[in-house]
Amino acid sequence: MFRIGVLVSGGGTNLQAIIDRIEDGYLGNCEITSVVSSKEGVFALERAKKHGIKAVCMPRKAYADTNEYSVALANHFETEKVDLIVLAGFLTVLSEEFIKKFENKIINVHPSLIPSFCGKGFYGLVPHQEALKYGVKVTGATVHFVNGEVDGGKIILQKAVYVQEGDTPEVLQARVMKEAEHIILPEAIKILSKS
Ligand code: GAR
Repeated sequence: MFRIGVLVSGGGTNLQAIIDRIEDGYLGNCEITSVVSSKEGVFALERAKKHGIKAVCMPRKAYADTNEYSVALANHFETEKVDLIVLAGFLTVLSEEFIKKFENKIINVHPSLIPSFCGKGFYGLVPHQEALKYGVKVTGATVHFVNGEVDGGKIILQKAVYVQEGDTPEVLQARVMKEAEHIILPEAIKILSKS
């Protein structure tokens, strides 16, 4: 089995997309060994529990700094012997050491076509707000490896989504999730789990 650890900070619709594709057999050789949240009380943890997956809350604010937090996360994922760590709406920065320790084993899903609307501060609704402000007609999502640069690692998959007349950031976000993120995140895991 290809062992996946998932890091979350919110609603967990991307986590759900992975769970659904494991359960329908598309990711038949994969299992989620644990879901770890950087925030308390997030719905992603409920989703994990509902599917019998270990749900762990490790609040970022319980640790002194990024380094201390990353060491705790690294210990957790080493114990779980994960093959891949998926950042699925994880909004906390990880240390250089963490990234080095799991080199080429950490992927992130980002809600824009990198290199547009990405980097520090571009998370959640912000990429969609900025895409609408700029007036782009096409946006989308990217799955990429995580390196030391925010949203700067090697791209694995991208999918384009059209902006529509009258879109609000929330409406655009929902379309990008449904038509791009939830499709390419399981596809990227399938690619990596076979190699
Ligand atoms: C998703 O849109 C994800 O791409 C984004 O946060 C949302 C989490 O939703 N991540 C980032 O912006 C990272 N830069 P979810 O909890 O429902 O999966």
